[in-house]
Amino acid sequence: MTKIIDGKATSAAIKAEIARETAGIVAAGHAAPHLVAILVGHDGGSETYVANKVKACEVCGFRSTLIRMEDSVSQEELLAEVSRLNADDSVDGFIVQLPLPRHINEQAVVEAIDPSKDVDGFHPVNVGRQAIGLPCFHSATPMGIVELLKRNGIETSGKHVVIVGRSNIVGKPLAAMMMQKAEGANATVTVCHSATPNIAQITRTADILVAALGRPGFITADMVADGAVIVDVGTTRVPDSTRPKGFRLSGDVDFETVAPKCSAITPVPGGVGPMTIVSLMINTLAAAKRRRGI
Ligand code: GUN
Repeated sequence: MTKIIDGKATSAAIKAEIARETAGIVAAGHAAPHLVAILVGHDGGSETYVANKVKACEVCGFRSTLIRMEDSVSQEELLAEVSRLNADDSVDGFIVQLPLPRHINEQAVVEAIDPSKDVDGFHPVNVGRQAIGLPCFHSATPMGIVELLKRNGIETSGKHVVIVGRSNIVGKPLAAMMMQKAEGANATVTVCHSATPNIAQITRTADILVAALGRPGFITADMVADGAVIVDVGTTRVPDSTRPKGFRLSGDVDFETVAPKCSAITPVPGGVGPMTIVSLMINTLAAAKRRRGI
C-alpha cells in the first residue's frame, strides 16, 4: 500500500506545538513574534501564498503585518521599505514574496535584508552558512521537506536522494541540506537539471525522488523505481473549467501512474506546500526567541 504523506496534518501538528510555545512566551511577558510580508503586485499565486502565511501566523499566535506595493513600485522604494523593516525593532522577521516585477533586481532586494531577519533563508549569508552546516535560517521549502520526511518516519541516511531542479529556493538548498552529516539528512545526493541527459536513468536509481522543476506531470511511472519515496514540490496552476476558480494545482509528478509504484508520495496540494509555510513559522519563532534572549 502506498503511503500518502500528509503535509497538511504534519504541518497542523507543528503549528500546534508552535502555538503552545508562543503562548508560554507571551505569558512570560514577552511580545508575540512578529512577521511582516511584503507583497508586490497582484499575482494570484503570490496572493494565495501570502494569505496562507498570514493565516498561519494567526494559528501560531504571532502578530503579522502585510505590506502591499503596486507592480509599478520602483526598486528604490522597495529597498527603502526593506531598510525600514531592518531597523524596526518591533519586527522579528520579514519576507519579500517572490517573484518580483521584472524591472526590480530580485537579488539586490534579497541581499538588502538583514540576515538576522531573513526568515526565508534567502540571503547569501544564510545560504552560505547552511551550505557548511552552521546555525542559520534554512530556506522554507527544503526545511519543510526534511521535516516532513523526518516526522513521517522516512529514513534518509545513506539513501540516494535525486533532486530534479536546481532553483535557488528549492533544488540547490535542498541538496546542501540533504548531504549534511545530520539527523534527517546524511544522504547521497544527485541533482538533475535541464542539461542532464537521460534523466530517467538517474531518477530510477533514487530511493527518494524530489521533483522541483515546475513542469506539470514531468515525472512518469517509467522514471521511478518500485518502492521509491516521491516528494512533489510542483504547484503549477493549470486551467480547469470544472473547478470553481477555473484552475487546479498540478504537481511535477504524474500522481495517478506513479503513486501505485512507490512506497510513499506527497500529494499536491496538501504535501510540501503546507510544510513550506510552517517552516517560515519555525524560523520566525526562532528569530523572535533570539531577539528576546530566550
Ligand atoms: N515564492 C515562492 N516561494 C517563496 C518563498 O518561500 N518565499 C518567498 N518570499 N517567495 C516565494
